[in-house]
Amino acid sequence: MMRAAFGFLSLLLGLFGSGAQMQGDVTEGTSKQTTPDIWVEVRALRDMVVELKVQLSALEDKVKESENQVDDLRAELISTKFHMELLQTENRDLQTRLRNTESELLVCKSKIDQLERDNEAEATELKSFERRLTTTESRTSELERENADVQSELLINKSRIEQLEKENAGKTQMAFYAGLANGGVIGPYNTDITLKYSKVFTNIGEAYNPATGFFTAPVRGAYYFQFTVCSHGSQMPALSPHSASLSCSFVMAYFLLDHMTSWSDSD
Ligand SMILES: *[C@@H]1O[C@H](CO)[C@@H](O)[C@H](O)[C@H]1NC(C)=O
Repeated sequence: MMRAAFGFLSLLLGLFGSGAQMQGDVTEGTSKQTTPDIWVEVRALRDMVVELKVQLSALEDKVKESENQVDDLRAELISTKFHMELLQTENRDLQTRLRNTESELLVCKSKIDQLERDNEAEATELKSFERRLTTTESRTSELERENADVQSELLINKSRIEQLEKENAGKTQMAFYAGLANGGVIGPYNTDITLKYSKVFTNIGEAYNPATGFFTAPVRGAYYFQFTVCSHGSQMPALSPHSASLSCSFVMAYFLLDHMTSWSDSD
């Protein structure tokens, strides 16, 4: 730009130079004293004007450039302001979120503290449970041992009982002693009847049934019975205790009875 301006200036100077030459030829000799001074001044003024014009143009260019720069800067400023506002909004949001997060964090921390306390309590409880479990386990194994002992004792007792039952079966004991419930005369009958000795004094082994008057042998063996009968005259065995001609006999009898066979005092 500046170089172009200087080029233009030197061209103008060149033109003025030849003009002055021509002028000098025409007016030579008429106003030799004053004319050159005016032309010089005019030339200087022209030069100055030209120079000023050039400077003005340069300045105008500069101003335009500056204006453009200012516009650019303004646009940039607006954009920056907008950006800053955005950032401020974002910052406010972030601060709010930060506060929320902080309060959440506090809540979490207190929860964690609570959980840690709970955990400690549970660990203590667990330890106590473990101790109790160990105690229970040892007690259980103790009881199991005791149980095994009792079971073996029970087995021994069972076999003992079986042995005793076997031994007892060989010598089953029974005995009964009974009488007629109603006194007085019974009969006479034309057919055989069963006398029921319903008044029972002893009935060891319960083999005698006073309801039927039958004795049932629980095991095979020899049984001994004895009873007393009284009767009139030659009739045997009619019973009449108040009769004057009463004769009594004491009867002893052995019976070999099979298992579950019965005997009764039939007349
Ligand atoms: C075994 O019998 C004895 C008595 O003979 C008794 O003291 C004991 O309790 C019995 N044991 C069992 C396990 O029944």
